[in-house]
Amino acid sequence: MSKDYPYPIARIGLIGGGQLGRMLVRAAKQLGCTTTVLDPVPDSPAGQIATRQIVAGYHDADQIRELARASDVLTFELENIDAETLAELEREGHAVHPSAAVLKTIQDKLTQKQCLQDNGIPTSRFAAVESPTESQFAGFGYPLVQKARRGGYDGRGVSIMHSPADFAQHLPVPSLIEEFVDADKEIAVLVARSTRGEVVTYPAVEMCFRAGENVLDLLLAPAGISPQTQARAEQIAVETVQALDGVGIFGVEMFVRRDGEVLVNEIAPRTHNSGHHTIEANITDQFEQHLRAILGLPLGSTEALSPAAMVNLLGAPNEQGRPVLRGLEEVLAIPGVCLHLYGKAVTAPFRKMGHITILDHDIASARAKANQVRDTIEIGAENE
Ligand SMILES: Nc1ncnc2c1ncn2[C@@H]1O[C@H](COP(=O)(O)OP(=O)(O)O)[C@@H](O)[C@H]1O
Ligand SMILES: [Mg+2]
Repeated sequence: MSKDYPYPIARIGLIGGGQLGRMLVRAAKQLGCTTTVLDPVPDSPAGQIATRQIVAGYHDADQIRELARASDVLTFELENIDAETLAELEREGHAVHPSAAVLKTIQDKLTQKQCLQDNGIPTSRFAAVESPTESQFAGFGYPLVQKARRGGYDGRGVSIMHSPADFAQHLPVPSLIEEFVDADKEIAVLVARSTRGEVVTYPAVEMCFRAGENVLDLLLAPAGISPQTQARAEQIAVETVQALDGVGIFGVEMFVRRDGEVLVNEIAPRTHNSGHHTIEANITDQFEQHLRAILGLPLGSTEALSPAAMVNLLGAPNEQGRPVLRGLEEVLAIPGVCLHLYGKAVTAPFRKMGHITILDHDIASARAKANQVRDTIEIGAENE
């Protein structure tokens, strides 16, 4: 006999009110849940549509406790938050998913790598660096990638060094260094694992980055990889989430080397930029799936309904202020274009302001339209 549920089904407490939170709130409404969002920015993208927003920082222990009082389950849309308070709340009996332990492991890129290594999950060779020295880097061997242990995102906190001359650009913080992977492709697999232990994966997607920038430039679903590589990537992604004992949705970023070997790059313990297309292109999107997972509901089908391409809409360089959309009509006239704007009051250079998913029966055509979209639409700032 299945149990009866109240309506609303659950009160979700969400730390972080950015675009990922906004899309999660939308899914929560659809699934019959209410949401309280904690974010320092009043009227945050998620707060605008949530039942309630608590205006507070991600490390404000008192207000995180207030969030817990107002919620049946706590979750988050970013890693740089107060894991200690979440651990205390768990001990007091609050549901927190993913768990504080998983969050702590992933918050620190060094312990994250160690977890991969300890569980036999393929990843590049690495070493811990307390304070960077030229001789340690040289001893490890170039080319290498230095990563700050904490606080990095969208490529901030990552420095790629090809030769000893690049040591001048090192980050002067506790770090890890890892072997540079000569990747043929970067892919990501989303894995959802529920409180009941049910696990599903989404088809691998291909992430394309622009040279010199580490923000995702274009996403293609499905990835242009062989069925063997697809199967291997899904297997590694599931093993990774199981090794963590993770509950919720996880974005597992991977490299496909030129010799076909698949290596895990990093894990996001949350919904992921590489899964935005699932809103239109898959039966169950990543946001609803995350909620199903943390509420112990049956997981939904991850089946793809259509090939898709996705581009982030980033704030134009050198423009800051009230957003203005250029090229909007031309872009909306392209068949298969699905526009998402995040409700940010101010644009800034390279800030994530929205995204566009393009559905097309043919992935090459979706990609061509995505390039056209990117060249046509621009989010700038109004002239003062
Ligand atoms: N070991 C590596 N070898 C080659 N490229 C790397 C390596 N590590 C990171 N990169 C590049 O830098 C990007 C950002 O690094 P990542 O660890 O994913 O940090 P972030 O948290 O900023 O996403 C990756 O998507 C990849 O393009
Ligand atoms: Mg990354």
